[in-house]
Amino acid sequence: MKALFLVGGKGTRLRPLTEKLPKPMVPVMGVPLLQRNFDRLKTFGIQEIVLSTCYKPECIEQYFGSGANYGLQIHYVSEDLPLGTGGAIKNAERYFDKEPFFIFNADIISDINFGEMLRFHKRKNADVTIAVTRVDNPSAYGVIEYDDHDYAITFREKPKPHEVVSHYINAGVYIFNPQILKHIPAGRPVSVEREVFPKLLEKGKRIAVYKGCNYWLDLGTPEKYMQAHMDAFQGLYRIDEADFEKEPIYGRFNAKISGKAILRGPVYLGKDVRIEAGAIVGPNAVIGDRCCIGKKCRIENSILWNDVTVENGVEIIDSIVADECRVGLSTSYEKVIFAGDASKRLAIS
Ligand code: GTP
Repeated sequence: MKALFLVGGKGTRLRPLTEKLPKPMVPVMGVPLLQRNFDRLKTFGIQEIVLSTCYKPECIEQYFGSGANYGLQIHYVSEDLPLGTGGAIKNAERYFDKEPFFIFNADIISDINFGEMLRFHKRKNADVTIAVTRVDNPSAYGVIEYDDHDYAITFREKPKPHEVVSHYINAGVYIFNPQILKHIPAGRPVSVEREVFPKLLEKGKRIAVYKGCNYWLDLGTPEKYMQAHMDAFQGLYRIDEADFEKEPIYGRFNAKISGKAILRGPVYLGKDVRIEAGAIVGPNAVIGDRCCIGKKCRIENSILWNDVTVENGVEIIDSIVADECRVGLSTSYEKVIFAGDASKRLAIS
């Protein structure tokens, strides 16, 4: 079975973290989000992947190449101008001719059992299956109303409070039968959520709604990106290499940590990290590869990407620091994102 990942979006809501990297390549606990999703997919035996790229495609292609180093076979389909989610699916049509295939928004993490979702798709004799997840406030999402047999009956994007007819939202994971692709117009931008799904319903196609999703998060904003890490520290989102309940400090590969520094788990340390005397790191800190944490620094509830230098005495709380930043000048930063020369406030409570 094959899978198509939509990886071409500009990721505007995640700026400035997406100024240099496309959203699917932002690190989640030191590993690109896309790679985390590939690793999970491999456990279900899916190894042939089509990537639909547009924004900064070279970052993705240079990292994954043919996929051979990751135990995958990867094909790339690129657009010069963004075709939207539906247009991107249509553009990859040549790779999907026989079997049903998965489609993923690349900014999602979830615990969906893909094997079970496929069995559901077949049992329901569906043309398309959409994974849904329940949220209390669906006003920022695409809401799906369904019948007693779990077939979709209406789609509504970003409903106002009085328009809410269902609390189940599109989780950005689909199974398509290849025949359905001929119903998507070619050569122009198309939204799968706004245009393709409602049109398919009008044409009487069967769209099944799969509800087997307990953990789900869309990493579209910095706040959600931060949330993903806090969930990983708490074990709500599982990453293969670390179990923070059993071992609260993960990493230390070639780390140089002063005997006078304090690590308060959970903490994720990348490679070749240096932590100087008197520094307090954690709880809930990700320290990327080759980061240097100066004397008497404090890093708490924060994510540092690679090659970050924190000068002596600086406190970083509830913040995100992208690659190669040097944090100094002031002594305390709270709820800030640093990326290149840009910085932005984080709206977290
Ligand atoms: P925002 O600009 O912050 O809304 O992010 P985004 O551009 O990623 O849009 P959105 O979150 O709605 O996209 C959902 C998924 O579809 C993501 O994985 C995107 O990478 C992908 N995507 C969105 N638009 C396009 C497109 O025009 N072409 C391709 N190939 N993928 C797209």
